Amino acid sequence: MKLISTGSALPKRQVSNDELSQFLDTNDTWISTRTGIHSRHVISDELLEDLAVEAARKALDMAGLGVQDIDFFICSNVVNEYMTPGLSCVVAHKMGFACPMIDINCACPGFIYAMDIAESYFLAGKVNNVLIVCAEEPTRMTSWEDRSTCVLFGDGAGAAVFTRGDKLKGIKLTAEPSPDKICQTRPLMPTPYVTKEEQETPLLMKGREVFRFAVTTSSRDIRALLEQSGLTLDRVNWFMIHQANLRIIDAIREELGVDPGRFPTNIGDHGNSSSASCPILLDECNRKGLFKPGDILVFSAFGAGLLSAAAVLEW
Ligand code: COA
Repeated sequence: MKLISTGSALPKRQVSNDELSQFLDTNDTWISTRTGIHSRHVISDELLEDLAVEAARKALDMAGLGVQDIDFFICSNVVNEYMTPGLSCVVAHKMGFACPMIDINCACPGFIYAMDIAESYFLAGKVNNVLIVCAEEPTRMTSWEDRSTCVLFGDGAGAAVFTRGDKLKGIKLTAEPSPDKICQTRPLMPTPYVTKEEQETPLLMKGREVFRFAVTTSSRDIRALLEQSGLTLDRVNWFMIHQANLRIIDAIREELGVDPGRFPTNIGDHGNSSSASCPILLDECNRKGLFKPGDILVFSAFGAGLLSAAAVLEW
């Protein structure tokens, strides 16, 4: 398959570190030096599905396609207001299309997992154009009294359209199932038969363990994927790393021994928007004209699960 367009949408409300420090025991210096984050976009009176629709429309416009041209839609999302139907159906209803669609919850690497599924559909000859939308509101998951998690996240949506082609040069998915590292539980409806007590928790995260996992898995995934794809680190023009923490990105870069100029970032004013992070970064770089035909882009993302994934795309 090949990527033909991108789109993104952000909530209008931007919350600075100074604003957080008005109600949390934190400060701009701690947050910016430990994470690289200065502010984040936070959902207030918007609906996540509207951000998803906006990102998708921008991607379709860039591709010069209409909704009738899309024959498979993959929506990556961790949490939204609906338990059912999937967010894909809510978005498709608003946009007025009805091709087959699925939702995936693969946390932060969701964009790359979605690419892998899309590629399988292309290889099976089932589709001509696939729309991927990653829409996330992690700020609705964290406790806003927990300074170790709520400062890290931001909301938004990113989208991409893929068509037939041969520009996906390789993809690698990795799993180290370990649900306690990043998790959130919610109670289900009571029944006469369930006796266990169910609790709702905010997002819980073992920050240091996740940090270590991220650096180790991302650098390992990237090396393995490049080898599998017959490419070297030198050939890569852009490393599109999940925007979780600038220190994580720096540590991955140092582990790979690559200069900083090839690692675009937007975490400073976005925070971690889970699976939306990679496609939002992709869209922003694309609209700035960063990529040239023939450029090699490596994506790498990691998160709850624990899951990680990497992909190589030729622009
Ligand atoms: N403001 C001020 N102090 C804070 C704080 C905040 N927002 N959050 C935590 N602290 C304090 C802690 O309470 C602790 O204080 P103590 O030493 O008195 O106990 C101290 O800072 C150090 O905390 P620690 O958790 O060890 O810091 P850290 O250097 O590991 O950084 C993270 C914490 C969360 C920034 C870091 O572990 C991280 O980024 N992990 C990965 C998280 C992530 O990206 N998750 C998503 C992956 S998709």
